[in-house]
Amino acid sequence: MNRRPIGVFDSGIGGLTVVRELLHQLPNESLIYFGDTARVPYGNKSPATVRRYAREILDFLVGRDVKMVVVACNTASAHALEELKRVSPVPVEGVIDPGARAAVAASRSGRIGVIGTAGTIASKAYERAIHAHAGAAVVVAQACPLFVPLVEEGWLDHPATRLVAESYLGDLAKHDIDTLVLGCTHYPLLKPLLAEVLGPAITLIDSAEQTARAVSATLAHSTLHAPKASAGGVHFVVSDAPEQFKRVGKRFLGEGVKEIELFALGDGEGR
Ligand code: DGL
Repeated sequence: MNRRPIGVFDSGIGGLTVVRELLHQLPNESLIYFGDTARVPYGNKSPATVRRYAREILDFLVGRDVKMVVVACNTASAHALEELKRVSPVPVEGVIDPGARAAVAASRSGRIGVIGTAGTIASKAYERAIHAHAGAAVVVAQACPLFVPLVEEGWLDHPATRLVAESYLGDLAKHDIDTLVLGCTHYPLLKPLLAEVLGPAITLIDSAEQTARAVSATLAHSTLHAPKASAGGVHFVVSDAPEQFKRVGKRFLGEGVKEIELFALGDGEGR
């Protein structure tokens, strides 16, 4: 049993989709969420820069005495997970392997699509993770960089978003995939629209749910679970603009974000 918090981080607000699932599956756990809102987006930054940011956030969370770290950001998982696992004094879980495992389990044809930020797709991290579980799988990947700003704008069912989705996904569908991994924190909010554009024959995989399961398994394995009587909850920390985080956060979390701590991490460059 361990009452210390679980650290969760993302480039900004999107990781709240993972927090939502963690709260649902692990209601007794305390979470500390760090959103790097001063330096978002990570999706178009170089791997070295994303790794540097991720290391700074790991140090911050370890300084807050977390018992485990969850990298809720797909781009940070793609570029930095291996390094974080190597240097972290506590267990680290990312979102890519859980999503890849779920896709392999769901796909009957072994033809799997992956969408994500430019950085996630260029890293080929999903390809590697899928092939680790199914060597013969065919993976078709597509970067969808315009989805993040459209979701943050709240345009979840807007004609412009539909047009963008049709343009990005038209080629993917031609590859005869039967499963599509939503490899970015923001994409679960587009699930209804993507399902309409792609049709019922393609299963959409949202890695947030699978990641929460993997976190639960790690806690059980390391006997780190909080006692059943603990109240649980989240403490939010952002590196910039807490009011904006509060305004958009509800859409991602499904409930209001109340108190937010502002903590300026690093030098704030990249804004
Ligand atoms: N959180 C990022 C991801 O899941 C999307 C937003 C960004 O580009 O920073 O890849």
